Amino acid sequence: MAWRCPRLIAHRGGGTLAPENTFAGLRMAAQHGYRGVEFDVMLSGDGTPILFHDETLERTTGGAGRVAETSDAELARLDAGGWHGSHFAGEPIPAFADAAELCLALGLWANVEIKPSRGADSETGRKAAALAREVWAGALLPPLLSSFSVGALEAAREAAPELPRGLLYGPVPANWRGELKRLGCASLHCDAYRLGPALLAEAKAAGVPVVVYTVNDIVDAERLLRLGVAAVITDRIDIIPPDLA
Ligand code: G3P
Ligand code: MG
Repeated sequence: MAWRCPRLIAHRGGGTLAPENTFAGLRMAAQHGYRGVEFDVMLSGDGTPILFHDETLERTTGGAGRVAETSDAELARLDAGGWHGSHFAGEPIPAFADAAELCLALGLWANVEIKPSRGADSETGRKAAALAREVWAGALLPPLLSSFSVGALEAAREAAPELPRGLLYGPVPANWRGELKRLGCASLHCDAYRLGPALLAEAKAAGVPVVVYTVNDIVDAERLLRLGVAAVITDRIDIIPPDLA
């Protein structure tokens, strides 16, 4: 499949300018001219795919406890924006289906990071991919599904084999190419500050696009793009222009 994705991608929706993984974040990315966003998808206690990063509610909502043990009705009562600033108070936790529709409406391409809570790898991968397939059916550009979880990627492949997938790493192991191949992944996603020249050269020679996270310095972003990184994920959509490349 031909690789087509924006070279600058806003992290967790709107980066630092809005509460992460919210509608406000997606709108913020679009307002700043970004054409691509990354966000995290986890399952609620009812098994609904929602936009959420942590396994627990404390950091980004007024709630407490595990996301995987909290019902949709309880999640709907939480404020996912107030922690970031009073301006965002009352921001809901988006259902993935609604966030996907908003991306389409705003013309945003999406890197959907499948973020299973402990033990929910297959179910999260399967549900996120099935939903992505449904919402983006017939869209010009399909979303890119990525995950640190091999189980989630395997399940996503089974549920929606036609959607491109990316394998996420912290430290990249020596056998990354074999893993990508085994999982049928199109891209390698890694920490920008652990990407050495040898790894980049190896990926280039193999024709594998490399997506790096999280670059918040414009000089670093420019350097990485010049070196041939396919895309840069950033929190600083205020200082890194979407057309930097
Ligand atoms: O997808 C890249 C990046 O989002 C991975 O780290 O923890 O921000 O989801 P994290
Ligand atoms: Mg993420």
